[in-house]
Amino acid sequence: MANLGYAAEELRELVALARGGSDRVALERLATGLGEAISESHQGAERVRHIVRGLKTFARTDEDKRAPVNMQDALEAAIDMSAHELKHRARLVREMSAAPRVDGNEVRLSQVFLNLLLNAAQAISGIAGDGLIRVTLGTDARGWAVAEVHDNGAGIAGEHLSRIFDPFFTTKPVGVGTGLGLSISQGIVLSLGGEIAVESEVGVGTTFRVALPPSIAAQAEPPPPTTTPDHVPQGRLLVVDDDPLVGAAVRRAVARRHRVTVATSGPEALELIRAGARFDHILCDVMMPGMTGMEFHAELARAAPGQAAVVTFMTGSIFTESAHEFAGHHPEAWLEKPFDLEKLRGIVDAKV
Ligand SMILES: Nc1ncnc2c1ncn2[C@@H]1O[C@H](COP(=O)(O)OP(=O)(O)OP(=O)(O)O)[C@@H](O)[C@H]1O
Ligand SMILES: [Mg+2]
Repeated sequence: MANLGYAAEELRELVALARGGSDRVALERLATGLGEAISESHQGAERVRHIVRGLKTFARTDEDKRAPVNMQDALEAAIDMSAHELKHRARLVREMSAAPRVDGNEVRLSQVFLNLLLNAAQAISGIAGDGLIRVTLGTDARGWAVAEVHDNGAGIAGEHLSRIFDPFFTTKPVGVGTGLGLSISQGIVLSLGGEIAVESEVGVGTTFRVALPPSIAAQAEPPPPTTTPDHVPQGRLLVVDDDPLVGAAVRRAVARRHRVTVATSGPEALELIRAGARFDHILCDVMMPGMTGMEFHAELARAAPGQAAVVTFMTGSIFTESAHEFAGHHPEAWLEKPFDLEKLRGIVDAKV
C-alpha cells in the first residue's frame, strides 16, 4: 500500500501539470489503466509506478528546450543506460556513420532510443541462441538523420503490428510492460517533425527506424570555437537516482564544469564510496525501490561521514512522515523535482 500512496501522490502532481492540456487521451486511458492496476494489488502498485514514470516525462518542461542535437550522443546515452539490461542477453553492434544534427532535445531523444533498446532486449530474452542488437546511424537520401535499432528476437505478430504504437498496448506480463514505451516514443519523434517506422518478421527479428530532419537552428549558429575551452571539469558530482534519465539530465546540465558519476541505486553508490571514490557533492533521489534516499544517507553516514554531509535530496514531494521529519532536520538539503536545470547548476557550482 505504501507504494500505491506514493504513486497516487506523484499522480496528483502529474495530473496538475498535464492539465495544461498536453494529452487528454493519455490521461483518460491512464484512468482506465489505473483502475485495473489498483485491483491487482502489489503488482498493480508497481505498474502504476511505471505508468506514472512514463507520463511524468510529459511534464518535464525543463527538458523540452530544443537545440541542435547530435543523434550519436543520444544513442550512446541510451546504450549506456540500457547496458545492464543488454549485457546478458545480446551482443551489441554499432554501425555509426555521419549524420546531420537535428533540432530536438537530447534527453528526450535518448528516451526514445532507450525504449527501443529495452524492447529489443526483451524480445530477445525468450529466444534460444545468440542475441544480437544492431544500432545504426546515417543519412538518408533526403539528408535526414536516420537511426535504426535492429534485433534478432521474437518479432511482432502481423495482427499486433498496427497496434504497437497505441498507448497501453502490450504483450508483456503485468509488472513488465505498460505499453507506453512506443506511444511516448512516437509522440516525441512526431513532435520533432520526424518519422518512426517498424519492420518485423516473426521468428526473425524487428527493426525500428527513427528519421529526423536536419537542424535549422544549427545553420544559424556561429561556427564552433577553434580555441580550447577555458573550462575544464572542476568538481566531482555523484547522482543517485533509480531513473537513469535523471542522471542523464544532470550529467548534460553540468558536464562542462563537473565530472558526473551516476548510480541507479543506493547500494551501487555505497559500493563506489566504499571502494574509495569521493565526491564534492551528492544528489540523491528520496523514493527509490529497495533502499530509500534516507536509508542510503544513514548508511553513508556510517561508511563515510564526510560524504553524508554533502548530500542534497531530490524529491517530487515530501509525503511520508519520516521524510517530513527528516526534511525538518535538514531543510537546506532539498531540491524539488521537476527542477530547473539552471537552478541545479547554481546549487552544484556553489557547493563544489
Ligand atoms: N523489438 C520488438 N520485438 C518484438 N516485439 C516488440 C518489439 N518492440 C515492441 N514490441 C511489441 O510492442 C508492444 C508495445 O511496446 P511498448 O514499448 O509500447 O510497450 P511495452 O514494452 O510492452 O511496455 P513498456 O515500454 O511500457 O515497458 C510490446 O509489448 C511488444 O509486444
Ligand atoms: Mg517498451
